[in-house]
Amino acid sequence: MVSSYLYLLGLSQFLTSALSAKTETGVCTADTFASLGLPSINVLSVDAKLNRVSWDIDDTLNTYPVVTNKTVDVCQLTVNYTHPGWNDNVTTWISLPVKNWNGRFMGMGGGGWVMGTQGALSQAVFGGYAAASTNGGHDESATVKSWGLSSEGNVNWANMQDFSSVSLDDAASLGKAATKMFYGKAHKYAYWNGCSTGGRQGLMMAQRYPTQYDGILAVSPAINWDKFIPAEFWPQMLMNALEYYPSACELNAFTEHATDACDELDGVKDRIISMPGLCKFNASTLIGKTAKCSSNSTITITAKAAKYVSLVWAGPEDPSGSSLWYGLSHDAPLTRLAGTNCTLPSQNCKPVPFQISADWQQIFLSRNSSLDVATINYTEYIRHFRQSVNEYNSIIGTRDPDLTDFKQSGGKMITWHGMKDQLIFFNGTENYYQQAMDLDSDLQDYYRFFAAPGAEHCKSGIGFYPGNSLDSLVSWVENGTAPDTLRAIATPTGTSSAKLPLRTADLCAYPKTLTYVGGDASKASSFTCK
Ligand SMILES: *[C@@H]1O[C@H](CO)[C@@H](O)[C@H](O)[C@H]1NC(C)=O
Ligand SMILES: *[C@@H]1O[C@H](CO)[C@@H](O)[C@H](O)[C@H]1NC(C)=O
Ligand SMILES: *[C@@H]1O[C@H](CO)[C@@H](O)[C@H](O)[C@H]1NC(C)=O
Ligand SMILES: *[C@@H]1O[C@H](CO)[C@@H](O)[C@H](O)[C@H]1NC(C)=O
Ligand SMILES: *[C@@H]1O[C@H](CO)[C@@H](O)[C@H](O)[C@H]1NC(C)=O
Ligand SMILES: *[C@@H]1O[C@H](CO)[C@@H](O)[C@H](O)[C@H]1NC(C)=O
Ligand SMILES: *[C@@H]1O[C@H](CO)[C@@H](O)[C@H](O)[C@H]1NC(C)=O
Ligand SMILES: *[C@@H]1O[C@H](CO)[C@@H](O)[C@H](O)[C@H]1NC(C)=O
Ligand SMILES: *[C@@H]1O[C@H](CO)[C@@H](O)[C@H](O)[C@H]1NC(C)=O
Ligand SMILES: *[C@@H]1O[C@H](CO)[C@@H](O)[C@H](O)[C@H]1NC(C)=O
Repeated sequence: MVSSYLYLLGLSQFLTSALSAKTETGVCTADTFASLGLPSINVLSVDAKLNRVSWDIDDTLNTYPVVTNKTVDVCQLTVNYTHPGWNDNVTTWISLPVKNWNGRFMGMGGGGWVMGTQGALSQAVFGGYAAASTNGGHDESATVKSWGLSSEGNVNWANMQDFSSVSLDDAASLGKAATKMFYGKAHKYAYWNGCSTGGRQGLMMAQRYPTQYDGILAVSPAINWDKFIPAEFWPQMLMNALEYYPSACELNAFTEHATDACDELDGVKDRIISMPGLCKFNASTLIGKTAKCSSNSTITITAKAAKYVSLVWAGPEDPSGSSLWYGLSHDAPLTRLAGTNCTLPSQNCKPVPFQISADWQQIFLSRNSSLDVATINYTEYIRHFRQSVNEYNSIIGTRDPDLTDFKQSGGKMITWHGMKDQLIFFNGTENYYQQAMDLDSDLQDYYRFFAAPGAEHCKSGIGFYPGNSLDSLVSWVENGTAPDTLRAIATPTGTSSAKLPLRTADLCAYPKTLTYVGGDASKASSFTCK
């Protein structure tokens, strides 16, 4: 390798670059990567070009943005390939910093139906990482119907496998190989970084490809996919079943009152319910009460509204009354999963499902792209729930609690999840972690889970956001420093009733919970892990 990149670079160029950079690199042309491939794929094209990446990410995940320079020069690769016999088309993007490579490799995750993007690599290369991401066999802009079905009635299983797992393993292998080709030496450590679908991808790597990453940051993970995605549709099906379409004003009234009732159970008045197990708020206590929607309009809470909200909070149940999945926390906004198009009850409210949950019903369960999901009744919903678990758990459930192989390969993993998550049920992640712990009492030696009170999906919300958890992971992997806590910051903006300044807290490794011991509630020292 060394001789070929010296040849390609030419001696004078090599000397120049050797003086100006700590790591000498190969030239950024397709020739450098001519041998890139895997036994399981046919490479269709490799495109390599130098590019100057600007800091255009306004919302970084999982790390506080520490940007010292607004641009980074990278060698940008686009590798298109197919799995022979699958008739699929997958793209892996790889970005290699030309200067100041930190010797590490990072896989970057996606969100929702998006497996990854080239843009997602910017965050990694700004941190000095060589990085890879995959489109998982479908373009970001492709309709779910176009990649989810090979024809009406038929799921495109190859694309489903790519989306679920296979392309992630490919991207890690291709990314690492390209890194070695470019720098003439292999990466020292490999990390995964993702939230939501990216979190699920991280756990998929630990469960199914346990030797690829030394460290995995899997945040607010979309694991239990076969169960939680149908559970996300529960509030929508209920609307049609009860013929009750809530306005945002009504939903918010329930959230506000429940928060009022349970906020201080943890000892701090901050609009955050950090001990949801103690919250016994009953929606029916609001029947007949009025709620102010705007300066000139108030509504009266009806019995139907209370019944609806208590069923949403409880989560889906089968006809025998057994719980099929969790509901949302009482302080989590209801307006995403129980969405309608109106703010006031008088506006002829119509249901607006969370798109992924509707796609799942229509494309992957009904396999009928013209199905109106509003026609799905309770019986059909329950049938779909069973079908989802039956057909998809082994593909995309991502809830195998047996992490033996990851443990044996020496990997380390961190998950944190916002307790106010309005899209992915916090309890599903806690349940997974508990199962893994039941299976291996030494789990904490290599996998730690942190609950983030008041944080919404991935980052948003007024609660505690452990934005530098990637640093904690890196020191765990490279220095053996296991994180007992994750430093988190809460920015209680926009909450008129919470007159609190910027707050810090050290989130606790499960099963310990963040416990207020008295004093200034904006200081980490006022809390302990119990
Ligand atoms: C910062 O970016 C500029 C290009 O805009 C580049 O010339 C310079 O070398 C960069 N500095 C560092 C420390 O990377
Ligand atoms: C690679 O695939 C992408 C779609 O992901 C496409 O836009 C691009 O044109 C392809 N590149 C080549 C060289 O075929
Ligand atoms: C992949 O691309 C080939 C060639 O363009 C096309 O025939 C095939 O249908 C594509 N496969 C999928 C799953 O889109
Ligand atoms: C969800 O998790 C919270 C926090 O651990 C716990 O207090 C609560 O009882 C759980 N809810 C269910 C239904 O398991
Ligand atoms: C709420 O209170 C009503 C009326 O007392 C009762 O019927 C219902 O079971 C309670 N719901 C819950 C979830 O406890
Ligand atoms: C209430 O106020 C809004 C905005 O000020 C106005 O558009 C609306 O017409 C008012 N509604 C009633 C019933 O007065
Ligand atoms: C909601 O949608 C219905 C049906 O399309 C429409 O009649 C109603 O005006 C919409 N409401 C709002 C507030 O846009
Ligand atoms: C698909 O859904 C549409 C609309 O509900 C319905 O008319 C049609 O019969 C369904 N197709 C199949 C094959 O079930
Ligand atoms: C529920 O929907 C299914 C499928 O469309 C239909 O066969 C069944 O009759 C419906 N059940 C009720 C009670 O409406
Ligand atoms: C590992 O520990 C050394 C010595 O304390 C420190 O200089 C270094 O920054 C640490 N590295 C990481 C990745 O935390």
